[in-house]
Amino acid sequence: MSVHGVQGEERGDYTKAESRQIRQRSLRLLGSLLSPLVRRVVLTGVVVVISTAAQVAGPALIAIGIDRGLPALIDGDALPIALVVAAYLFTGIIGAVLIAWYTVLSARISQAVLIDLRKRVFLHTQKLSLEFHESYTSGRIIARQTSDLDAIRELLDSGVNQLVQGALYMAFIAIAMFALDWRSGLILFAFLIPLGVLTRWFQVNSQRGFRLTRVASARLIVQFVETMTGIRAVKAFRKEARNEEEYAELVESYRASNGRVIRLFGIFDPGLILIGNVALAAMLLLGGLRVAGGSLEIGVLLGVLLYTRQFFFPAQEIAMFYNSYQSAAAALEKVSGVLEERPGVADPVAPVDLWEAKGDVRFDGVEFAYTEDRVILPRFDLEIAAGQVIALVGSTGAGKSTLAKLISRFYDPSSGAVELDGVDLRDLHPKDLRRAIVMVTQEAYLFSGTVSENIALGKPDASHDEIVQAAMAVGAHEFIQALPDGYDTDVNKRGGRVSAGQRQLISFARAFLADPAVLILDEATASLDIPSERLVQEGLTTLLARRTAVIIAHRLSTVAIADRVLVMEHGRIVEDGTPRDLIAGTGRFAQLHAAWRESLV
Ligand SMILES: Nc1ncnc2c1ncn2[C@@H]1O[C@H](COP(=O)(O)OP(=O)(O)O)[C@@H](O)[C@H]1O
Ligand SMILES: [Mg+2]
Repeated sequence: MSVHGVQGEERGDYTKAESRQIRQRSLRLLGSLLSPLVRRVVLTGVVVVISTAAQVAGPALIAIGIDRGLPALIDGDALPIALVVAAYLFTGIIGAVLIAWYTVLSARISQAVLIDLRKRVFLHTQKLSLEFHESYTSGRIIARQTSDLDAIRELLDSGVNQLVQGALYMAFIAIAMFALDWRSGLILFAFLIPLGVLTRWFQVNSQRGFRLTRVASARLIVQFVETMTGIRAVKAFRKEARNEEEYAELVESYRASNGRVIRLFGIFDPGLILIGNVALAAMLLLGGLRVAGGSLEIGVLLGVLLYTRQFFFPAQEIAMFYNSYQSAAAALEKVSGVLEERPGVADPVAPVDLWEAKGDVRFDGVEFAYTEDRVILPRFDLEIAAGQVIALVGSTGAGKSTLAKLISRFYDPSSGAVELDGVDLRDLHPKDLRRAIVMVTQEAYLFSGTVSENIALGKPDASHDEIVQAAMAVGAHEFIQALPDGYDTDVNKRGGRVSAGQRQLISFARAFLADPAVLILDEATASLDIPSERLVQEGLTTLLARRTAVIIAHRLSTVAIADRVLVMEHGRIVEDGTPRDLIAGTGRFAQLHAAWRESLV
């Protein structure tokens, strides 16, 4: 399944073959979720069958009690009726106890399935490559984890219970009817025809209705999440009014599609009740005539009437099951779609060990395109010797960040290879790769937790001393100490709020602690103001010592610490040399540099 296929699912339009594939995919997922629970499922099945049989026994016992026990009692023999009453109590108690057990058992199964599914979705979306996350919006991922899993939970918690109990109940009643009086059984069967027609009509119409409500509710969630995650931009660009309009439209379409579904129920429910009552009237009429004619015992008629009344109750519940089944099936389809997404960058089959990376980076005939229609890097060769500090400059869209993402293997090249110390990145163990190559970007992200925990991400087993050393090395120590709880300040709590520049310093300390052979800074200093940039500049020299570094920077002041400058335009290196040589020349960098010098005066 491609990423585009997943987007299609959100709209709910696909061909027959695709639908079949999607259904199979959901069933596979369901199978893999249930297979570890087979024994529990079987036990639960046995319990529910016995408990339903016990519950259905009631009317048959009443029939026996009236037709056999009552005449015997009138004749002075109380034993038969006492036996029937005892059996009635016994089956009643068994039914109640077993149904209680069944409720517990089925709840355990549904919890186990859900926990498994929740974990799988989380771990899998976390593992998926950047490519997936860049096209699959956070709103939709949140919808998978919340409303979709809720739909599945609802199905497992109540829907399946109702279906299993309801269907068994109807089947046992039919059997009991035939055993009691087969003619009445046939009449009951005749009423299955209108019941089937009505249910089928409801199924066909509700399928469409439910799909529309689900699409509408998913759109609501996506719009909401995206407004809130982009709230800064919303406020900055005064987009509130437009958002309000869009949201109102979505709410209205949600309301309208829900209204349609409710109208369907408005026909279906009364229809069921009507069928049940007509069936009861027919049984009473035909059975009554037979009782009068002496061909039917009165107790059997009562039993038949009680069964007929009960027979149609579960039909309503089964119809409700259809409701939750529909949303759960669609949810399962979407969740299984996410789970079958393969990471765009696959783990190597036989990883090459690289314990001590030197830091030689080589692009060998690399071609790269995000989408097939537009090549970003056309045949690219580049060699960066270990220990070299490279400044990569060029206009916006030149492909600098793309180059950085290829070195850190967020993407794989379409052809050619990116190598570290002569090993294709695709053959490196992900652990070795992440230890050897670290990229720091402008959006330095802090996770909830303390400052020192955030720095320790670079090296999970680091001691407090190492953390402080790292912070000192990049010049972050002073401001961290000034925080309310120093290194133990929670970055999300009041008073723990750190500025963009301070966040960047923390991410530098994290990178320093990780001590990678190759460090990439993609506009990492762009969010710093001039004083903090100067502060970082000093830390940067420490950070870059003894390793290969690629610095992508707006401000040319950073270039001074580089051994080599690469100027990139339209996916190609157009200039390559030491800063001194390039400045002395007449190329693009010399012009840029001259303009920059001018601006400083
Ligand atoms: N995830 C993406 N999907 C499709 N195109 C992209 C993606 N990221 C960047 N691009 C395109 O690739 C080109 C190079 O982008 P980038 O490497 O970010 O440039 P730079 O960092 O030099 O500004 C741009 O034309 C940009 O539109
Ligand atoms: Mg960029």
